[in-house]
Amino acid sequence: MKSKIGIIGMGVMGKSLALNFISNTIGTSVYNRTVQGKEEKIASTFAEENLDLNLRGYDDLGEFLQSLESPKKILLMIPAGSAIDQQLDQLSGFLEKGDIVIDGGNSFYEDSNRRVSEMQEKGIHYLAMGVSGGEEGALKGPSLMPGGNKEAFEQVEDYLKSIAAKDKNGNACMTYVGPEGSGHFIKMVHNSIEYGEMQAIAEVVHLLRFGLRLNPSEISRIMRNWLNDGLQSYLLEITADILAVKEGEEYLLDLILDAAGQKGTGGWSLITALNHHVPYSPLAEAVTARQLSSQKTKRSELSKLFNHSFRAFGEDKVILMERVKNAYMLCRIINHETGYSLMKEVSDKYSWNLNFSEISRIWTNGCIIRSGLMEELVEVYQETDSLLRHKKFISKVKELKKDLTYIIGLGLSHDFALPVFSASANYLLGRIIENSSANLIQAQRDYFGAHTYQRKNDASGAFYHTDWQKAKEQSNPNSQNK
Ligand code: 6PG
Repeated sequence: MKSKIGIIGMGVMGKSLALNFISNTIGTSVYNRTVQGKEEKIASTFAEENLDLNLRGYDDLGEFLQSLESPKKILLMIPAGSAIDQQLDQLSGFLEKGDIVIDGGNSFYEDSNRRVSEMQEKGIHYLAMGVSGGEEGALKGPSLMPGGNKEAFEQVEDYLKSIAAKDKNGNACMTYVGPEGSGHFIKMVHNSIEYGEMQAIAEVVHLLRFGLRLNPSEISRIMRNWLNDGLQSYLLEITADILAVKEGEEYLLDLILDAAGQKGTGGWSLITALNHHVPYSPLAEAVTARQLSSQKTKRSELSKLFNHSFRAFGEDKVILMERVKNAYMLCRIINHETGYSLMKEVSDKYSWNLNFSEISRIWTNGCIIRSGLMEELVEVYQETDSLLRHKKFISKVKELKKDLTYIIGLGLSHDFALPVFSASANYLLGRIIENSSANLIQAQRDYFGAHTYQRKNDASGAFYHTDWQKAKEQSNPNSQNK
């Protein structure tokens, strides 16, 4: 009997997804590109290690493709970038019209836009699918974000439904996202929210640890309380676990080098936001914080030159803990608002018609940013396309704002770096201030470059230029400072 689906790529994610398919009795063939010069038979060895009637491993591409039922359905779980194009070139020689290729990696969505149409020209259906949940999610139920060719989606829908995580109503955390590379686009935004959420928690931990002088076990307990007190979130939950882990007398966290890695999706979101003129500072700061963190040697040198050290807060710990919690809650709201605003802009530009309530629903389980807040967003985005316009969130933001700004002031004045906290407050204020300081920027631009400006209450929308030197003289004829 032929396999229903084939997976190319036997990294952690490819293997876990294969095991997920077979545990749902979906016949699966696996294949791994042989690394040049290496004789490792990764796919066949993996199949031998996991004896199951539904799993077949191949080290030869031709045999692998022969093992698949027609039309062939092939899931690529290989690194993003040129490896995908090379694999597609290689496959194109073997594939027939109507076959389906799914890219389940973290590909850049513009590459996926291109691949969907290139493959379409060859008669091959292409699905660009975001997959979230890490190794455990892939094995037990990821959040799946397929986009691209709708006809192809319908042919794999049932398989994807079977392996996906389930939401609170038992529905699969999987939906057809939209055309072209929209599935990879929303996964990219998911990841930038992930970056923001992780950085916000890291800032909380630093404030509690060095500002309130709490040890990691105490912080872990506080976070467990928050989890049970309306702040349910996967990332907070794993942080509470991480903080409690010791190696001998020491906390493992203290033994880990403070230089954060990144594979690109956070930065791509920022570039996309810049290209589409979407303000993105809170999540951009999370990317920058990782970049700064990776300059460990330079930081160590400057830290000594500046005699940097955190200074503890002298205030009531219980009250401050509550204020940090509130600041964190607001920062999270702003992180999500930022990410969703990018999705809205790009969806409108490409006419993708993204359904933000449905996107939130498939992010309520299986994925890394699942949380109680995400559950709320399912309802909220049925009513609005911006959290800052939703009645309940307007009151929440108003209530929490003073704690966010207070904690930022306190933290900065005690030498804590709070990039995402600070950026989220600035972003919020930037969005709600009616009369901003940008009139001055326009005047400066016009002064040195005759870039012109528009005037308030001028319905014509005309552009004006002022001869500022002359205007200055006319305004202050007696001034000595000409
Ligand atoms: C997920 C994650 C995952 C991502 C890693 C690492 O949703 O399962 O987003 O896809 O690759 O979290 O990303 P960075 O190396 O960029 O942190």
